[in-house]
Amino acid sequence: MSILVLGGAGYIGSHMVDRLIEKGEEKVVVVDNLVTGHRAAVHPDATFYEGDLADQDFMRKVFTENPDVDAVIHFAAYSLVAESMEKPLKYFDNNTAGMVKLLEVMNEFDVKYIVFSSTAATYGIPDEIPIKETTPQRPINPYGESKLMMETIMKWSDQAYGIKFVPLRYFNVAGAKPDGSIGEDHGPETHLLPIILQVAQGVREKIMIFGDDYNTPDGTNVRDYVHPFDLADAHLLAVNYLRAGNESAAFNLGSSTGFSNLQILEATRKVTGKEIPAELADRRPGDPDTLIASSEKAREVLGWKPEFDDIEKIIASAWAWHSSHPNGYNDR
Ligand code: UFG
Repeated sequence: MSILVLGGAGYIGSHMVDRLIEKGEEKVVVVDNLVTGHRAAVHPDATFYEGDLADQDFMRKVFTENPDVDAVIHFAAYSLVAESMEKPLKYFDNNTAGMVKLLEVMNEFDVKYIVFSSTAATYGIPDEIPIKETTPQRPINPYGESKLMMETIMKWSDQAYGIKFVPLRYFNVAGAKPDGSIGEDHGPETHLLPIILQVAQGVREKIMIFGDDYNTPDGTNVRDYVHPFDLADAHLLAVNYLRAGNESAAFNLGSSTGFSNLQILEATRKVTGKEIPAELADRRPGDPDTLIASSEKAREVLGWKPEFDDIEKIIASAWAWHSSHPNGYNDR
């Protein structure tokens, strides 16, 4: 039995592959079209195929050449909320239609397990905090909608073809492999922590904090941060949960603790010892006040126990990557 990782050259996917290989998984197959992923992020011990998961002939070749693949972990999606508002069809095509193409080929090859990245963005403005898996999902942007549609498509594919699935709804992913060898490199970068760290490095002049009049203790948005190695562990637990014959189920993945944008800024100043100039700016459209996960279900059902349970540990790991790679993978 081996695992196929789609998007294994991306930020979270590369941490997944690293973790699988470190845990002694004999063979890990990686597919990535390198549109947002990086060749240098592909683990040297992985079997790498460059191509697009929506290219069914290409995927048939991957499954034919790796008949021992019984489970797919799928990270290969676009994930920028603002871009999705401007280019919704790009998201429905790549994320949602891509999933249909993938499931058709999985069904042809009788591959029955898939674990995939869903998102807190499927909840939109949540009805309750902390957010549970049963909290109504009402996305407020095409990115979240594209992922919710992927969940729905899988629900019916499970019923019709018996393809079992686990959508893992991540909250805010941050941090990197602590040795600084792999990390987050988006072009353009839009996420809070990498931007703050780029200011710490001197690559940017200042961080703009988007809004301080939210309904939160200090007026800035509150988010729940989770490390990619902890996500990776949850994916492996989810694969084993499916392999053990359990029913499809969704899980939230977060730390269950919220940090405001100003708290992240302060913690980063402390970890890096840098001043990090900041300026207040207008709200960014579409930001919910607070997003905090209840990840009780993942802890109870999957036995998930996040290792990076301290925000300073997460920030220090991201700093190890950014300070040693001021221009990321430097391949664009
Ligand atoms: N922020 C700033 N300044 C910046 C960048 C971000 O103040 O330069 C703020 C944002 O306004 C927000 C917080 O930092 O309040 C976090 O923003 P990110 O862009 O880092 O993350 P998001 O919470 O917007 O997005 C994350 C994931 C998405 C997912 C979303 C769910 O990255 O994929 O959570 O709502 F869809």
